[in-house]
Amino acid sequence: MEITWLGHSGIKIKGSKTVIIDPFLTGCPAASASPEEITEADVVIVTHYHSDHLGDAFAICKQTGATCVGIHEIAVDAEAEGITAEGMNIGGTIDARGVRVHMVQALHSAEKGNPAGVIIEMDGKKIYHAGDTGLTYDMKLIGEFFKPDLSFIPIGDRYTMGIPSAAKAVEFVQTKKVIPIHYNTFPIVSADPEEFKKKVGDKAEVIILKPGETYNL
Ligand code: NI
Ligand code: MN
Repeated sequence: MEITWLGHSGIKIKGSKTVIIDPFLTGCPAASASPEEITEADVVIVTHYHSDHLGDAFAICKQTGATCVGIHEIAVDAEAEGITAEGMNIGGTIDARGVRVHMVQALHSAEKGNPAGVIIEMDGKKIYHAGDTGLTYDMKLIGEFFKPDLSFIPIGDRYTMGIPSAAKAVEFVQTKKVIPIHYNTFPIVSADPEEFKKKVGDKAEVIILKPGETYNL
């Protein structure tokens, strides 16, 4: 499957279904696409109610007919705009158009509802998107239950984990591969992904992408 970094925390996963996570494109200095260029999506997942994650999610759902998946409060707002939505909450698992979505906790804040991370299962692969979060010892449960093939982990510090915590999170979630996100979008979340790679060492394969770049998983 094709994994594309849209910039910031935005991810496009193209397998048997197309899944978009946290598409913050309009107003994002690191965005690799405009929302109008996302013409195909089955599921759009929003990890939490912050503008750099909710971003263009609703607009993309409207233009593609994608189902919006998020915590209950996000789903309610999506439905109010006429979007098909699947609300859920932390600890839950749903099937959204053939994509399995598990919602896990994130240590962060949100304007509505709680922040979350997700593990999606599609085409036999497990992919963890941590959303915005601090390091939590409970991440060990993600390792115990899922052992993701690939994880997206924020490294930009200030609002999320910085590099030392993010490297520890990689160890806790027992991911095989990791793509750092949520860094260098703005000067206040500057981080050196090479330093993260060094810190992770042999715990996982670190894949550093440029916004717009695609990795074949
Ligand atoms: Ni946030
Ligand atoms: Mn954020």
